[in-house]
Amino acid sequence: MIKVITYGTYDLLHHGHVRLLERAKALGDYLIVGVTSDDFDKTRGKINVQQSLEERVAAVRATGVADKVIIEEYEGQKIDDIRKYGVDIFTVGSDWIGHFDYLNEYCKVVYLPRTEGISSTELRDQKRLIKVGLVGYEKYLNKVYKECQFVNGVRINGVCTQNSRELSEELLSLDTTDSLDELLSKVDAVYIHSHPKYHYDEMKRALQAGKHVMCESPLAETERECRELIAMAQENNCVMMDSLRTAYSTAYARMLLLIKGGKIGEVVSIDATCTSLRTNSAVSGEKWGSMPAWGPTALLPIFQILGTGYSDVKITSRCENDRSVDVFSKIDITYPKAVATVKVGTGVKSEGELVIAGTQGYIYVPAPWWKTDYFEIRYENPEENRRYFYQLDGEGIRYEWVSFLKMINAFAEGKAEESAYIDNIDRSVSLAIARVMEQFNNGIDVKYI
Ligand code: CTP
Repeated sequence: MIKVITYGTYDLLHHGHVRLLERAKALGDYLIVGVTSDDFDKTRGKINVQQSLEERVAAVRATGVADKVIIEEYEGQKIDDIRKYGVDIFTVGSDWIGHFDYLNEYCKVVYLPRTEGISSTELRDQKRLIKVGLVGYEKYLNKVYKECQFVNGVRINGVCTQNSRELSEELLSLDTTDSLDELLSKVDAVYIHSHPKYHYDEMKRALQAGKHVMCESPLAETERECRELIAMAQENNCVMMDSLRTAYSTAYARMLLLIKGGKIGEVVSIDATCTSLRTNSAVSGEKWGSMPAWGPTALLPIFQILGTGYSDVKITSRCENDRSVDVFSKIDITYPKAVATVKVGTGVKSEGELVIAGTQGYIYVPAPWWKTDYFEIRYENPEENRRYFYQLDGEGIRYEWVSFLKMINAFAEGKAEESAYIDNIDRSVSLAIARVMEQFNNGIDVKYI
């Protein structure tokens, strides 16, 4: 009996896939199909796969061509599978020519001509193309624009900016305007990355125009405004997403799950530091202190791990001339049974690490923890220590955009409640972040040094 094996993602199964499977089967007597797991796809840089692994496996089975379906979970698995199942022929489409020649050592490798004119990528694009406008003037927008090229189903249509000095030529070659209303008239959604003092007004206008919004955290400068926006998004049936790329890094998300699963016991203390020497946007006139630049990012793990029911927040800030720009701030948060410390700086440099101490062990995330692909769980007995690595592409930005699009699609399909599961940042966390920012802006329990 001749055994044949082939692999693929098989997202939104199409006739190109079916033809490939039929021809693969015809090469022998028994066909094994390896379907890539979601995690493996992520490490391959294939993102925005629309269907779950279960759905993709079910679709492959439903073709009736495969004799056996397996899951591909790790790099190098193909060699293991070929040996394990005694495979005679490995085959894939001609888009992979040359790529798998190394398998010739184990079995025969056959590249089958790819069916012209169809791919999952195209189908994902056709499914629903969401037109997005970018709002702001930060260099970060250039990065966002680049990252969006990796995400199917989104097209950046235009930019609204008051100052284009930091924006790339590529970005400025799009439709550029200084009028938010003009931009809003051309798009389905906007991404806002301006100074937090503009967020409320910009988001309100977008939501009133019925546009979905993703806004860099904090959503607003006061908790009341933040609540108002949440209600407005609901009334207008719009997605409103608090944007913090860290929440979409796989390592960070897995770390939260391990903590919830009790790996370090009860969490007693968290220390988060975020600093940079570069101060945001000298161009826009207003300066960003360390709180608007880093506060939301540094507060994220604290509220996500310890919750938002803190008893006390005290801030110490070193400011320039007036009190409007903090070069460095330290936030001490007390909970009934835990404490947390945040240190943020723009114009001060320190080790940007995250340490989470528990009753059984602690988690150490090295600098820069907010865009990490690695962390360690450490115990009293070092032999029990564990290291965790996860692929991180594009600092988490592209994964965050995939979530934004998935939420918009869930709304479009009338499944708004599903979007809460897609959003990695709970509303209570967004509100708590806004509350601490408000306290800082109003100088309540802030000691200036
Ligand atoms: N395939 C094919 N003809 C097509 C599309 C895919 O023969 N038009 C083959 C691929 O070469 C591969 C298998 O089908 O051997 C599974 O491919 P997969 O990567 O899942 O599908 P694509 O449509 O190529 O997906 P994407 O657009 O995400 O790359």
